[in-house]
Amino acid sequence: MKNETQKTYYITTPIYYLTADPHIGHTYSTVAADVMARYKKERGFDVKFLTGADEHGQKVEQAAAAAGVHPQAFVDNLVDVYKEMWRVMECDYDYFSRTTDPMHQAAVKKIFKKLYDQGDIYKGSYEGLYCTPDETFVTERELVNGNCPECGRPVEKVVEECYFFRMSKYQSALEKHYADNPDFLVPIARRNEMMNNFIKPGLEDLCVSRTSFTWGVPVDFDPGHVIYVWIDALPNYVTSLGFLSDDDSAYKRYWPADLHLMSKEIVRFHTIIWPCILMALGEPLPKQVFSHGWLQYEGQKMGKSLGNAINPKSLVDEYGVDAIRYFLLREFTFGPDGNFTQNALVTRYNADLANDLGNLLSRTVGMVEKYFGGTLPVFDERPIENSQPDRELFEIATTMLSKVEEKMDKLAFSEALNEIWNLVRRANKYIDESQPWVLAKDNSKKPELANVLYNLAETLRILAVAITPVMPNIPAIIRAQLNIKDAALAKWDSAKEFSLLPREITVTKGPAAFPRIELPRS
Ligand code: MSP
Repeated sequence: MKNETQKTYYITTPIYYLTADPHIGHTYSTVAADVMARYKKERGFDVKFLTGADEHGQKVEQAAAAAGVHPQAFVDNLVDVYKEMWRVMECDYDYFSRTTDPMHQAAVKKIFKKLYDQGDIYKGSYEGLYCTPDETFVTERELVNGNCPECGRPVEKVVEECYFFRMSKYQSALEKHYADNPDFLVPIARRNEMMNNFIKPGLEDLCVSRTSFTWGVPVDFDPGHVIYVWIDALPNYVTSLGFLSDDDSAYKRYWPADLHLMSKEIVRFHTIIWPCILMALGEPLPKQVFSHGWLQYEGQKMGKSLGNAINPKSLVDEYGVDAIRYFLLREFTFGPDGNFTQNALVTRYNADLANDLGNLLSRTVGMVEKYFGGTLPVFDERPIENSQPDRELFEIATTMLSKVEEKMDKLAFSEALNEIWNLVRRANKYIDESQPWVLAKDNSKKPELANVLYNLAETLRILAVAITPVMPNIPAIIRAQLNIKDAALAKWDSAKEFSLLPREITVTKGPAAFPRIELPRS
């Protein structure tokens, strides 16, 4: 188990079921995880960020058969679609986990055998209902109008000899873990749902092998059985760190995970089945599971039928990756469901990015050019707390980052960005209050004018640091326009101090960081 004095941070997204046309909703967990990973790196953590592909199971076997290819060729082909999507969204993972990886499969077999040898897995027979699209066993009690309670599709009756995992044995240990760790599952609504709907009514032993198809990790001591896809998938979080392999140094360094991030429909697997497996293995549980909501598009469930409108690549081509990442995290509170609309995207883009941040940059650079020929001269080292607007700007600029940290640590992305935009908006107001165009008319006011422009440039430097986790490209654009080359001025903690920027600043005007976008007429 990791040594808590080392500043490590291990964050995971779900590993994805691969489809040929993933949509922007699929990127939500991974963009959020990438932002957290970048944020923790900025704060000096040794970060491990995992995403990947969930490649086994009946659903994959059936889809490959329909496409007329071997399941391995089927997933090999689709995995590139996801890697390309993460490249486009600039999700910079450290490890891409694939459940068909031989190292993963070997460790899953060992886990299964260990649980069998110690009596936690036993053979029996399962007679019940199964939802293949969700790869989930369903009880009669859970059915909604005779269909799967999760996706509403029909379930199949299956009668199979199978191995069971003795989850019932871990009932009280799991309840105790929830009681002792109030932050194990957030938000609280999910925690209550798990407790009241699944844990308190009593954990049932879980069928953990299948015999009706072959595309999975085989039970090596009983040919004909393949391991249930979730028992294969969940351990990817530890097998990717080398758990039960010849080299488990990464496991020792990074486990337990600091955060498993996912959306609501798979919380049950992560907060009931996964903890029971880990308890049976005698391994520590992840510190936190955070569940976010679903994104809909114009009020509809995202899917194939919505076509290109929600394709991550076409959104990025149109708005830029920094803007799309910003929109996803600013527009929707992280936790509940959100409704992605074209109108909301354009409105938010124009207001926050084109008008607020984009204009602040172009106005500042433009005024240094116009009033000082591109280089801000040094008049005197006057303190920023010069006048009322100066003082207010200084106050907000120097306290912003610690407020951002407080929100980010709670995954309150939208609130964190709002803190940053309070400063953006204050800086624009500062321009209006200081009226540089009036100061410029009076030669004796040149030092004051230079001071105002310096304060704006320094504010932009601070803003560039604060937006770094969310926006991978704009900070460098801001720094290029202000000619900030010293890496120390781009460091996280440097944004807690004002007046670090050397007073002589040469600007280089560039194209608009966020050109305005007109809403398509309907
Ligand atoms: N393979 C399982 C996870 C196994 S983890 C050990 C799986 N894969 S998935 O591809 O169906 O989903 C991956 C993630 O994308 C899940 O967190 C899922 O909830 C999320 N989303 C899929 N569509 C989404 C939206 N429209 N909105 C938000 N998240 C969405 O489940």
